[in-house]
Amino acid sequence: MTDAVLRCRVGAVELANPLLAASGCFGYGLDYDGLVPPEAFGAVVTKTVTPAPRRGNPTPRLMETPAGMLNSIGLENVGLDAFLADKLPALAARGVRPVVSLSAGSAEEFGEMAARFEGARVTALELNLSCPNVAEHGVNFASDPTATEAVTRAVKTRFAAAPVWVKLSPNVTDIAEVAEAGEAGGADAICAINTLLGMEIDLKTGRSPFAMNTAGLSGPAILPVALASVWRIANRVSIPVVGIGGASSAEDVLKFIAAGADAVQIGTALFAEPGLIDRIEGDLRSYLEDADCPDLETLKRRWRERAEE
Ligand code: SIN
Repeated sequence: MTDAVLRCRVGAVELANPLLAASGCFGYGLDYDGLVPPEAFGAVVTKTVTPAPRRGNPTPRLMETPAGMLNSIGLENVGLDAFLADKLPALAARGVRPVVSLSAGSAEEFGEMAARFEGARVTALELNLSCPNVAEHGVNFASDPTATEAVTRAVKTRFAAAPVWVKLSPNVTDIAEVAEAGEAGGADAICAINTLLGMEIDLKTGRSPFAMNTAGLSGPAILPVALASVWRIANRVSIPVVGIGGASSAEDVLKFIAAGADAVQIGTALFAEPGLIDRIEGDLRSYLEDADCPDLETLKRRWRERAEE
């Protein structure tokens, strides 16, 4: 349903609702078609694209944990050329709002990739500076404020057609410091958090089953870490924050918003319940009605004013 009640702003970006499909959890946006209409999301963050196609890591790549999931996908994707030729136009034809997730090996390469989107219709670019599952690039950028600032600046210099969001890793000492670096580089929003570094041990071999040994932990287990990260970042930067990490209900989404997020990405929960967006939307509407609040933006304002008292 599109009305003003759940409309939401992430800086200059206006979305029909605050729920985004998180990168890697909804393919390129149309993979769940027939099961979940991609238009139900405020926007869809596409699977991270790299300059060249990648086959990803050997299996196993996914494993359930008691309160979440480990992944070691390794950025499997079709590569930039195929994404621009096939995937992005298909989303545009459906009227889906795409936030395009990018990863590259250097600041210069990030800038070159971003420049290819100058004439494309995208809602935002999300710089994935924080994938824990590849050896050659990924988490290294987001664990270094200087590198985060350099990548962000390189992209902002080459791309002005839409906002640039920077996705950060929780696997650092002070995520707010890295967020400040992104802001200094010109980021239009910070997305937090990517997965936490995790591991499994196969007791038959005494070793990790994953190709890189470690993997990325997501799901309900990381929600408290994500909330704390969003809260710390929101108190240190003046650009919007998009919350990611373990949300699976309207209550979780509202907690992110109270912690300082402007919108929330839903990831791992989509694997268990692909249609959960309808439920979350309905519950958000009921919450606003019960709280005697006309719309989500008013709730955000009220909570932020209260936080400043
Ligand atoms: C992956 O493809 O390995 C996951 C992406 C990420 O964690 O950024």
